[in-house]
Amino acid sequence: MGKRILLVGGGGREHALAWKIKQSPLLEKLYCAPGNAGIAKIAQCVPIDGEDLPAIKAFVLENNIDLVAIGPEGPLVAGLADVLRQEGIAVFGPSKAAAEIEGSKTFMKGLFAKYNIPTAKYKSFTNADDAIAYIKKEGAPIVVKTSGLAAGKGAIVCQTLDEALHAVKRVMVDREFGSAGDSVVVEEFLAGEELSFIAFVDGKNVLPLAGSQDHKAVGEGDTGPNTGGMGAYSPAPILTDQLHEQVIKQVMIPTVEAMAAEGRPFKGVLYAGLMINNGEMKVLEFNARFGDPETQPLLMRMKSDLVPLMEASATGSLAGVSIEWDSRTALCVVQAAGGYPGSYKKGLPITGIDAADALADVAVFHAGTKLDGDQVVTAGGRVLGVTALGDGIKEAQQRAYEAVDKINWDSCYCRRDIGYRAITRIEK
Ligand SMILES: Nc1ncnc2c1ncn2[C@@H]1O[C@H](COP(=O)(O)OP(=O)(O)O)[C@@H](O)[C@H]1O
Ligand SMILES: [Mg+2]
Repeated sequence: MGKRILLVGGGGREHALAWKIKQSPLLEKLYCAPGNAGIAKIAQCVPIDGEDLPAIKAFVLENNIDLVAIGPEGPLVAGLADVLRQEGIAVFGPSKAAAEIEGSKTFMKGLFAKYNIPTAKYKSFTNADDAIAYIKKEGAPIVVKTSGLAAGKGAIVCQTLDEALHAVKRVMVDREFGSAGDSVVVEEFLAGEELSFIAFVDGKNVLPLAGSQDHKAVGEGDTGPNTGGMGAYSPAPILTDQLHEQVIKQVMIPTVEAMAAEGRPFKGVLYAGLMINNGEMKVLEFNARFGDPETQPLLMRMKSDLVPLMEASATGSLAGVSIEWDSRTALCVVQAAGGYPGSYKKGLPITGIDAADALADVAVFHAGTKLDGDQVVTAGGRVLGVTALGDGIKEAQQRAYEAVDKINWDSCYCRRDIGYRAITRIEK
């Protein structure tokens, strides 16, 4: 009997997960809640929000689901995994207590301090005056972060004292991010290059994925405001074998052990956002799920079946498991709505997706899309993740943009320089 799987989420990450799960010979039926126009082509989408825990639970029980894979942080932090595990359902994703590592930066920084995990110097505040006094003492550049979830917009990197004081006002006085800003982390600014280190975890064992890097800023040359991510690629040339060992030994294993020791064993995907500077490594943050858009290139390179990996994470049996990777490079370019991450239009018809998708070694992953009759229209800020495989980063980049150029809609925007850091590094 094949597996009946429910995937929770509806972004580009979930389309990539659905695309990969769909290739598994172990699969009987794939559902996705709520999905998007791209996922609807390969899975049965059901219009349930991932944070509606009773509705997801009812669907899972009624439809004899064997395994639930949870994509986004919202349902994890809300406790969806706990609700399902109580019913004896296998879940790929951490419990509410374990997802706190992403859901509360104050908790996360406290864990780092207690277990000596390398990170930026910081202080945590619930009172604006205290935060202001600390910022004045430390000086700029400095970083102000909401402790709670803020859809990638709650970390404010401040180059000047004025900017930092303004950030405190936005978060703690004007409460722009609501209760996510009840507690605030103020931390030292770290220079360097970012690296995403993503691993499957089963409570005790760590099985790393290939390295990846994303581009968070909206503008070329990594300028302008941060977004959910404008593009990504794997492998990441910055991740040498030596750095890989260092991350495993100094970050991943100590964190998994720390979470177990705190009575919050972590099962699912543990994602370390790292800052690397001259071989020195510090953790910026942890996420309790796959990155979006890093998942798109990572899964295009993954040769192993994803379903047994998710099951091994859920059942605590990752020891001795390995993952086979395509040696080629995969690169994802996010096509976004003009105006994003600010305000933008929705409902615009998209052309050229099929032509782009038909190119060899190209996959067009949908994020904010929906069907309007037979027509795919935009339905979010990040709309598509056009992903291509190539021999090396330059070929992957060229193929991805070849596919991007077949797609269009009114006010479509993408960065034209995804992968430039990796290209500069290999050309040095
Ligand atoms: N201490 C820091 N020094 C420099 N840049 C930082 C620092 N902390 C965060 N950033 C930048 O802000 C981005 C978002 O911060 P992060 O801690 O990952 O929060 P979140 O992803 O929850 O918004 C990081 O990817 C990085 O680009
Ligand atoms: Mg982050």
